[in-house]
Amino acid sequence: MGDKERIIIFDTTLRDGEQSPGASLSIQEKVEIARQLEKLNVDVIEAGFPISSPLQFEAVQRIAAESGVSVAGLARAKEADIKAAYDALKEAKKPRIHTFSSTSDIHILGKFGDVRYGKSLEEKRQMVIKMTIDAVTYAKTLVDDVEFSAEDAGRTDIGYLADVVEAAIGAGATTVNIPDTTGYTFPSEFGQKIAELKRRVKNIEQAVISIHCHNDLGLGVANTLSAIENGARQVECTINGIGERAGNASMEEIVMALKVRSDLHNYYTNINTREIYNTSRMVSAYTGLIVQPNKAVVGDNAFAHESGIHQDGVLKNRQTYEVMTPESVGVPQTKIVLGRHSGRHGLKARLFELGYKFSEEELQTVYQKFLDLADKKKEIYDDDLRTLMGDELQST
Ligand code: KIV
Ligand code: ZN
Repeated sequence: MGDKERIIIFDTTLRDGEQSPGASLSIQEKVEIARQLEKLNVDVIEAGFPISSPLQFEAVQRIAAESGVSVAGLARAKEADIKAAYDALKEAKKPRIHTFSSTSDIHILGKFGDVRYGKSLEEKRQMVIKMTIDAVTYAKTLVDDVEFSAEDAGRTDIGYLADVVEAAIGAGATTVNIPDTTGYTFPSEFGQKIAELKRRVKNIEQAVISIHCHNDLGLGVANTLSAIENGARQVECTINGIGERAGNASMEEIVMALKVRSDLHNYYTNINTREIYNTSRMVSAYTGLIVQPNKAVVGDNAFAHESGIHQDGVLKNRQTYEVMTPESVGVPQTKIVLGRHSGRHGLKARLFELGYKFSEEELQTVYQKFLDLADKKKEIYDDDLRTLMGDELQST
């Protein structure tokens, strides 16, 4: 394998993530999350959509003023949006204007149905190319770093998509983002789309290829990894996978998949993975969006083992049932959950941790009582164990 290649992590928790129903954040909460994202070492923070509201504008402005990393503001391909994004970003050390136009026929016909945008589909498509060029050209007069997104690229005809991307790069875009806006594509299909763009777009080497995958079919992370394998070098993602509808590809899953399976490829990220869990909890607390217990990497059960066979294995060697350590993502420790599937080894280990001493015979008696109780309760907590032990054994 050749030299290692860095994957740029573009975090859009504060923009697309905040678009999750019911997840609105205050300015102060956005600023604190941005600080935590910087600790996590993301490369780009998309702080919001400045023209959409005064709160969004001010949040982007405050994050831009204090961040050391690139800060992006979203703008439709309209002069007023781009100007607002620039005004919010102008104090940033590394400002990025992120502008976008719709490129799929479904979007073009749906959004630009009016004849003033052209009579035929072909005329409307050409109008979108012109809007793209005008938007990127204008943004480029304000900042050096301009990203263009082809909205609904996942459902856009490849020949037309290549034309739009080439036009955006020709106008000065430094990053071209290929979103699977509706989470519609299959991993192999999306990967091929990226590979095909690399073949067709003449000036593609002048820009970074980015991708942005939604999770409508639960394929956001798989599509992201497939795109990386086919040439994408920036990934757009959110903490806990929050975002419009079923959300965006989850940052923690992408980052840990790349890290854990570094034997398979040559890519790495600069993410400080030990800050993942803290960031996940902060985003969950501020947005009010709970993390499902079985969520990969950051869910409560991600490092919890209940069955006796698993507990016994993990207590002997964690690698038997863990492909990464909890510490590597900032989770304090592996959790042995005591319930009706637990064995004597798990119970014994927990009782030792709680400070009890007992013989094998005593353990057998307590284990029986434990099983009786576990049949009545979903999970046995430390206080339940203390009550059980209080009857049977002497605490040290
Ligand atoms: O999903 C999408 O297409 C977007 C763009 C604005 C990048 O969020
Ligand atoms: Zn999106």
